[in-house]
Amino acid sequence: MTDMLAQIRSLGDQLRWAADLDPPHVGTFSEILYAGMGGSGIAGDYAGAVAYPVGTRIAVHKGYGPIPPWAIRQRPLLIAASYSGNTEETLDMVTSAWESGLTVATVTTGGRLAELTTQHGWRTIAVPPGLQPRAAVGYMVGAVLRLLEGSHSVDDQRLAFTEAAKLADEMTAEDSPAWQQAEEIAEGLEGRIPIIYGAGPVTGVVAQRWKTQLNENAKIPAWYSVLPELDHNEITGWETMPGTTREHVGIVALTDPGDHDRVAIRIGHTRELTESAVPWVGVVPSSGTSTLARLVSLTAVGDLVSWMLAERLGVDPVPVATIEELKKLLADD
Ligand code: PA5
Repeated sequence: MTDMLAQIRSLGDQLRWAADLDPPHVGTFSEILYAGMGGSGIAGDYAGAVAYPVGTRIAVHKGYGPIPPWAIRQRPLLIAASYSGNTEETLDMVTSAWESGLTVATVTTGGRLAELTTQHGWRTIAVPPGLQPRAAVGYMVGAVLRLLEGSHSVDDQRLAFTEAAKLADEMTAEDSPAWQQAEEIAEGLEGRIPIIYGAGPVTGVVAQRWKTQLNENAKIPAWYSVLPELDHNEITGWETMPGTTREHVGIVALTDPGDHDRVAIRIGHTRELTESAVPWVGVVPSSGTSTLARLVSLTAVGDLVSWMLAERLGVDPVPVATIEELKKLLADD
């Protein structure tokens, strides 16, 4: 079980690795279509949060091709990211994009995606193998951001990489304040189904990361919702089964200075109105200045919570047997 902790703790090193890369020249693009699933897909969401303030739109596509009709008109750069290089949805999208004449760049450790990259001469960043895809988030986000720099769609991220890597090291160290907060949250969530609340471009994305890390590392159901939308529907969902939800569900809210002022107010009122029916186990504020550092700080706490819950539940966070089994079933169809 220590292996996943070591992988989580390598986040800072992964970001430093990315900071040392030379961004490949990809052309000039203000719109990106990103193809990736699971642990590789979330890297596109993170890159989207970084690119958001500079006006670059990253449309993250988590599924099969064909490429969406708007992309045929707008001609975005297609970034295909797959840690294994063998994810069928991503391979389908990249093939569709290439056949439609889009410029393609890839991020992978190998597999079929690397073969296609060599065959077609696509721009690429090869990331180090050997981790679980979801634990390679620093490599994947870092490589994608360097590709975006190389396509003039985000500004130089080196200072952000340095800040984020330092924070990741500090926060994942045993007995750091972040570690202690993660322990409290893991204790509060044990035996409960977590629902993670986010809001703006930073917390909305990391709420999804928490959910998927809780699914894959702790092997528990978990969901995420985003404010202010949840105040228009989910908030009423706590009314009718308080006996069940009080006992079996726990909310964790993520906050960030980039959240809209009204969202901060909404979080307080949403808590007041729901807490009698569902415990709010924790509120986690982001740290750091750059968007990347704020994303990484919230990620560090969530990754630790998922590992700590796995420890508490006695499950091995590393293997994802059901995902592998499904991939085998699909390969035979
Ligand atoms: O974390 C995981 O293992 C999964 O979510 C994978 O990332 C997902 O199945 C896609 O695989 P890959 O990242 O190799 O494209």
